[in-house]
Amino acid sequence: MLDKLQSLRQEALDALAAVKDAQALEAFRIRYLGRKSEFATLLRGVGKLPKEERPRAGALANEIRAELEGLYTAKKQELAGWRQTRTAVDCSLPGRRTVPGHPHPVTRMMEEVCGIFEAMGFTVAEGPDVELDFYNFEALNIPSHHPARDMHDTFYIADSVLLRTHTSPMQIRAMEAGEPPLRMIAPGKVYRCDSDVTHTPMFHQVEGFLVDRRVSFADLKGVLGAFVAQVFDGDVPLRFRPSFFPFTEPSAEVDIGCMICRGTGCRVCKQTGWIEILGAGMIDPAVFTSVGYDPEQVSGFAFGLGVERIAMLKYGIDDLRLFYDNDLRFLRQF
Ligand code: FA5
Repeated sequence: MLDKLQSLRQEALDALAAVKDAQALEAFRIRYLGRKSEFATLLRGVGKLPKEERPRAGALANEIRAELEGLYTAKKQELAGWRQTRTAVDCSLPGRRTVPGHPHPVTRMMEEVCGIFEAMGFTVAEGPDVELDFYNFEALNIPSHHPARDMHDTFYIADSVLLRTHTSPMQIRAMEAGEPPLRMIAPGKVYRCDSDVTHTPMFHQVEGFLVDRRVSFADLKGVLGAFVAQVFDGDVPLRFRPSFFPFTEPSAEVDIGCMICRGTGCRVCKQTGWIEILGAGMIDPAVFTSVGYDPEQVSGFAFGLGVERIAMLKYGIDDLRLFYDNDLRFLRQF
């Protein structure tokens, strides 16, 4: 049966290749696809085969019939001149719409954040994603074997080369390159081996720092308060929580009231009603010494904020990983 089907298929293909007009095509249809065709007779015979041969023969017969029907339809359209018309101009086809793209919500948030600080007089500097251990840790008062290194789950590229875990190395690069007064922000990507609803392995930070004479914690509070009021249109609770960073003293983490649950507690804020958006503090004298500044003469503050966290709160998104799933239904909402 299988051999018969194959030879009938070959015969039908040869016959179709020789078809030159509609009349010959109709004859082909009756002969090979009609109800009284040899093919139909063979198909009926499948039911009479021994049980174990039926599935293979049935599948092959259906496959050949589908192939021949497809080729028959294509030939019919070809003879009717359909193909030529379509490749030239088919006025009945709907037009192709150009779908305009738009910036990713994190890009938009980043631009908004930078714009606010630029309006306060901060200049913008960018640094490398692939960073030296020296800038990412050593010069920031985090020597090797310092327990604070554990807080950053680092992706190492070589012994002393890594993907930067924060934008703070830009403090060192900027202070090495210039003299105070400095008022800068450094936006960019940072990397940590971290993933849950409020953490992704790649995320964006904006580092900010101001170095001058007699800079105080009150200046830091003033700048961050003004920033939060602008991003969230004023009405957001803000709190400074004592914390520790080896490169600032004193240090604080800054939380804002969770906008997902309005402070009542949810999985994003881990039922606390607060979400941390940044780390900050007064630049540690050891950092000034490492870049050759005199800590008796200058003081300064620094902060590093998480751009995705701010976007998450501003747009009411309850899982930070959604930003990087590339689901257009999500992205088109912005
Ligand atoms: C730092 O990275 C410090 N360099 C910040 C700093 C700068 C402190 C200057 C003092 C002076 P921290 O690890 O807490 O700190 O990260 C800062 C912010 O980045 C967090 O508040 C949070 O908003 C965001 N963040 C941290 N880890 C992730 C992550 N895996 N995914 C998304 N956002 C994150």
